[in-house]
Amino acid sequence: MTTQRKILLLVLSCCGIFAQPPEEWNKQAEQTLRNALKLETLNRNVAKNVVIILGDGMGFPTITSARILKGQLDGKTGEETVLHMDSLPYVALAKTYNTDQQVADSAGTATAILCGVKTKAGVVGVHDGAVRKDCKSGLRSPVVSVLQLAHEAGKSTGIVTTTRVTHATPACAYAHSAEREWESNNQIPVEQRLHGCTDIALQLLDKDIQVVLGGGRKHFLRIDERDPEDMNSFGARTDERNLIDEWIAKRSQDGNASYVWNQKQFDAVDPSKSDYLLGLFENGHMQYHGNRDKDIAGEPTLAEMVDKAVRILQKNDKGFLLLIEGGRIDHSHHDGIAYHALVDTIAMDDAVKTVLDMTSSTDTLTIVTADHSHVNAIVGYPSRGNPILGVNDKRVGLDGLPYTTLMYVDGPGGTEVQTSFMENGTRPNITNVDTESSSYVQQAVIPLKDESHGGEDIPIYADGPMAHLFHGTHEQHYIAHVIKYAACLGNSTEHCDDRNAIGGASTIYNNYIVIWHVIILTAALNNFTT
Ligand SMILES: *[C@@H]1O[C@H](CO)[C@@H](O)[C@H](O)[C@H]1NC(C)=O
Ligand SMILES: *[C@@H]1O[C@H](CO)[C@@H](O)[C@H](O)[C@H]1NC(C)=O
Ligand SMILES: *[C@@H]1O[C@H](CO)[C@@H](O)[C@H](O)[C@H]1NC(C)=O
Ligand SMILES: *[C@@H]1O[C@H](CO)[C@@H](O)[C@H](O)[C@H]1NC(C)=O
Ligand SMILES: [Zn+2]
Repeated sequence: MTTQRKILLLVLSCCGIFAQPPEEWNKQAEQTLRNALKLETLNRNVAKNVVIILGDGMGFPTITSARILKGQLDGKTGEETVLHMDSLPYVALAKTYNTDQQVADSAGTATAILCGVKTKAGVVGVHDGAVRKDCKSGLRSPVVSVLQLAHEAGKSTGIVTTTRVTHATPACAYAHSAEREWESNNQIPVEQRLHGCTDIALQLLDKDIQVVLGGGRKHFLRIDERDPEDMNSFGARTDERNLIDEWIAKRSQDGNASYVWNQKQFDAVDPSKSDYLLGLFENGHMQYHGNRDKDIAGEPTLAEMVDKAVRILQKNDKGFLLLIEGGRIDHSHHDGIAYHALVDTIAMDDAVKTVLDMTSSTDTLTIVTADHSHVNAIVGYPSRGNPILGVNDKRVGLDGLPYTTLMYVDGPGGTEVQTSFMENGTRPNITNVDTESSSYVQQAVIPLKDESHGGEDIPIYADGPMAHLFHGTHEQHYIAHVIKYAACLGNSTEHCDDRNAIGGASTIYNNYIVIWHVIILTAALNNFTT
């Protein structure tokens, strides 16, 4: 704990003299109310741009604890902190289940969010008619993503993620596959390949996407090609193709296309001169935000990638659609480590700020959401301002042992508890353990190698044209339908024909109608009251 925060906590706990006065709360609520009243005028514009920001595995406990950590890293108590995503005016809930699973996976949910239909767990950009790992059924069942529709509408498109760019969530924006793990050709079983299924990386090559930034070089390199950064790693492809070279050749036909794989090259990219940008910063997933200083060749933050992407995409007069994923929140949770999940959530929130700073809610629909939750929880009754990654400062368990505020229901932490019981007959005694470290595994109930996803609803935060259509508890696939409606994508042209919409057929005519209604209504009311 910083000295600053220790003093702050001391002050807070002291004798009521420094208690937070009611005026402070009233003032805060009054400001919130004033802001809410502004929402009485709806933004019914057509969305020129759409930005979808997705925190993989970012459920409510993750958002709340990341918010507290952000405040505490800033020397505050933390709970009162406002994340950038918290500042978006509209919030709704999404039900995340897959057609065949109560608790969802990322491929099924990303297909729902991006393609507008719920489907099975593990499949990418195909509807429920597809059977997982069955190539033929997948080929029969493609569904179209909002990214594809945006492209067809003449908009620029982009994908920015911290995972491999071929990983489940981004893949659903451009690929169709009966199996999320078919990222390279060699991952598709030979007998399935014979039916004509192609891998996800190859499908990316064939899509005209302006900006692709993330990790996952191995699925673009030949198996005999050494990774430029990690000399012990190689490519994964067994079809003798280098998809990076092919991407450059292909995209160069339509503009200035560059490929970068480290921070220095990335920084040198001039967005005003670039039409296409492919950045693959790791052989596999990119680093956790908290581990970036350990990276050999250096890699940009999510916010830096988003900044560059928006600058390139914004050059298109017809607008753009950008998918941003904070993809590794999920991975740290699976390892039973809260630290990186929270730090990566804060890093994604920085990217939210970048988007909000660089775009206008007049013409840009911004959506911040998650695909599914995790089984992490914020527990006990620690004091206000107690370190969120720390130990409960007020209570111990009935076993006399301390416990942390953040815990998991299942996962590797359960294995540690089980081992401790076998060795010592008790839970691990964490009295002298640094639970705030980046490698601390929180205790859990059920021992599992991988901590699991959570099945409760997740939030949808939104701002911009038609953001108010997110207004209650929705099925997750509804998100794609709002995007299509707001931006008039695909067959969803209703909103562009709508007279109320700016850029719609007859806004002026419509204003006359409104004025006439007011006149008639006033006259009627006058009659009524006299
Ligand atoms: C193409 O883009 C790169 C990267 O931004 C830039 O360095 C180069 O000057 C551009 N070339 C042209 C011809 O605009
Ligand atoms: C836990 O460890 C601390 C420090 O070693 C020790 O003082 C305490 O008695 C232990 N608690 C139990 C219940 O064993
Ligand atoms: C059992 O207790 C000992 C002594 O406190 C400790 O060093 C050891 O790590 C404990 N074992 C487990 C699995 O927690
Ligand atoms: C759009 O409408 C056409 C004609 O009605 C139809 O064939 C097509 O499948 C529709 N496309 C989508 C994406 O719904
Ligand atoms: Zn996961």
